[in-house]
Amino acid sequence: MNRPPSGERFTADWLALREALDARSRSHCLTGLAATWLAARPGQHGVVDLGCGSGSNLAFLAPRLPGPQHWRLVDHDTGLLALARQRGARLRDGAGRRITLEGRCRDLAPVDDGLLAGADLVVASALLDLVSRRWARALVAACAERRQALLVTLSVDGDWAFLDAAGERLEDEEDAAVRDLFQAHQRRDKGLGTALGGEAPMVLADAMREAGYRVETAATPWHLVVGDPAGGALAEALVDGWHAAALVQSPSQADRLADWRERRLAGLAAGKLGVMVGHRDLLALPSPSGSGD
Ligand SMILES: C[S@@+](CC[C@H](N)C(=O)[O-])C[C@H]1O[C@@H](n2cnc3c(N)ncnc32)[C@H](O)[C@@H]1O
Repeated sequence: MNRPPSGERFTADWLALREALDARSRSHCLTGLAATWLAARPGQHGVVDLGCGSGSNLAFLAPRLPGPQHWRLVDHDTGLLALARQRGARLRDGAGRRITLEGRCRDLAPVDDGLLAGADLVVASALLDLVSRRWARALVAACAERRQALLVTLSVDGDWAFLDAAGERLEDEEDAAVRDLFQAHQRRDKGLGTALGGEAPMVLADAMREAGYRVETAATPWHLVVGDPAGGALAEALVDGWHAAALVQSPSQADRLADWRERRLAGLAAGKLGVMVGHRDLLALPSPSGSGD
């Protein structure tokens, strides 16, 4: 996650702020491959959205996947889950039929039948950096046991940078120092054990391959170019989030971090800076049964 939650919770405002950029950044190719895989399966398609938040992933995927679809939305935040359910009630699948859904307000651990039973496709968006290696391995084992496909999108890879007016990455010592602190903060326990942070996409891809899955990944960075009308509030929120995480990580550097924040917010306000945030999408498909796995 790029922006630290308030407490370890995420706000609906923050999720709304990022939704359009998420949709623009995601791999449409991997979405299409997931749709093709689902379409080849008979009957109703079960989809589980882990850490569904206010339903951005659901809203993006439902119309792009074949139906009929039944969604299980899982989140430990009652308010966000209620928003996701409200949105889901209005959504239709790729053929224009209403989807059906159920909500589960619960923790993502343990990875058990209550999370995964009945699903063909397990999806998660903007979640993976929060999980531990142990939880990721439990998810892989559980999906493999059930021969479920996995589409995990917009997982941060830990990298971010400011861009100049030409869209080139700015190399800056203070940015690098804040980024190091932010990455250390990302690895703190977010409720599921020591978090993988930016390592998560690679760890999940390796584990899925080891489990015999066909794995496709794609770089899906956010690019907020200078002058992007949709980008101002989001870029400011990112700077605030990176600053807050760095400060938690190193309170003794409060003055230096405040100077950095002011300088970068001023650059954004003056329309001189863009922002890049590294993400990756992953699609893992079980090998066809009878292929000897
Ligand atoms: C960054 S938000 C992403 C929300 C949504 N997937 C999206 O793309 O907008 C992460 C979500 O995971 C949920 N979450 C984090 N840790 C969780 C846990 N241990 N159990 C259940 N939900 C969790 C949060 O409440 C939040 O809604």
